[in-house]
Amino acid sequence: MEKIILDCDPGHDDAMAIMLAVGNPKIDLVGVTTVGGNQSLEKVTYNARSVLEMAKATDIPVHAGCDRPLVRKQEVAASIHGETGLDGVELPVPTRPLDSGHAVNWIIDTIMASEPGTITLVPTGPLTNIAMAARMEPRIVDRVKEVVLMGGGYHVGNWSAVAEFNIKVDPEAAHIVFNEPWKLTMVGLDLTHQALCTPEVQHRIDAIGTDSSHFASGLMDFFRKTYRDNQDFIDPPVHDPCTVAYLIDPSVVSTRRCPLDVEIHGDLTLGMTVADLRGPEPSAEECHTQVAVKLDFDKFWDLIVDAIVAIG
Ligand code: BDR
Ligand code: CA
Repeated sequence: MEKIILDCDPGHDDAMAIMLAVGNPKIDLVGVTTVGGNQSLEKVTYNARSVLEMAKATDIPVHAGCDRPLVRKQEVAASIHGETGLDGVELPVPTRPLDSGHAVNWIIDTIMASEPGTITLVPTGPLTNIAMAARMEPRIVDRVKEVVLMGGGYHVGNWSAVAEFNIKVDPEAAHIVFNEPWKLTMVGLDLTHQALCTPEVQHRIDAIGTDSSHFASGLMDFFRKTYRDNQDFIDPPVHDPCTVAYLIDPSVVSTRRCPLDVEIHGDLTLGMTVADLRGPEPSAEECHTQVAVKLDFDKFWDLIVDAIVAIG
């Protein structure tokens, strides 16, 4: 079992990551934390609770975290996720009250109270909470098992020519997280643009025929439309669950070790994740960071479909 903390900003693809984490038996979802990103903190926190309600996982705690980036003015992604952050579906009203305590404190307390090397951090939004946690309690860096995050890209951007949304909106936080010496896997756009929800995939989800499958399919309909209108995609790339899929089965995502850093000064390149892919590939002792390269498309969607079936 992989014990994970999912730090997210739901978000259509964050919602799919939550469903995959809940529905897969290899993942122990210790808690969900939220961060202002795709929409305001208030909206994404409500959405996280609502998705857990839909996934029948009201035993999972949700803690709200930072409502804005460390340095910059907040920028949301309404053009992709709508005004609510989860437009296009009816959201069930959460029955579990929001858990008390700031997400950053809860992340620190949970890691410090767990056996070293047992908790994996899975950020799928801006890295504000994770950077704050690393600064407030530096001992967590040695104690987490690894960080597997959705963000960045080594050849492509989506929020500028060279920068991806989660990194671009809080580049200083990303700079902190990428430069801590924990094992870090960047599941960036190079990988997630392979995770397209094609019509064939969506038929498989529809065919499950449950409330949660209709919910997932409704999310994909809206996501397809905004990706067609705003990003020139035919099918939407379902970024965030690629992180969870990698933890369930590392053979779903192939990786390449390389030094990584985040640009925080450039006028044109702010938020760019710079990957040094010059060979030879460094050893794990020499280099704590790696990038996701190739997705096994069939295995990935099998995991998603199985998780939705398991949720029932
Ligand atoms: C990332 O940005 C958000 O809009 C998505 O939820 C995903 O985490 C993709 O760039
Ligand atoms: Ca996200």
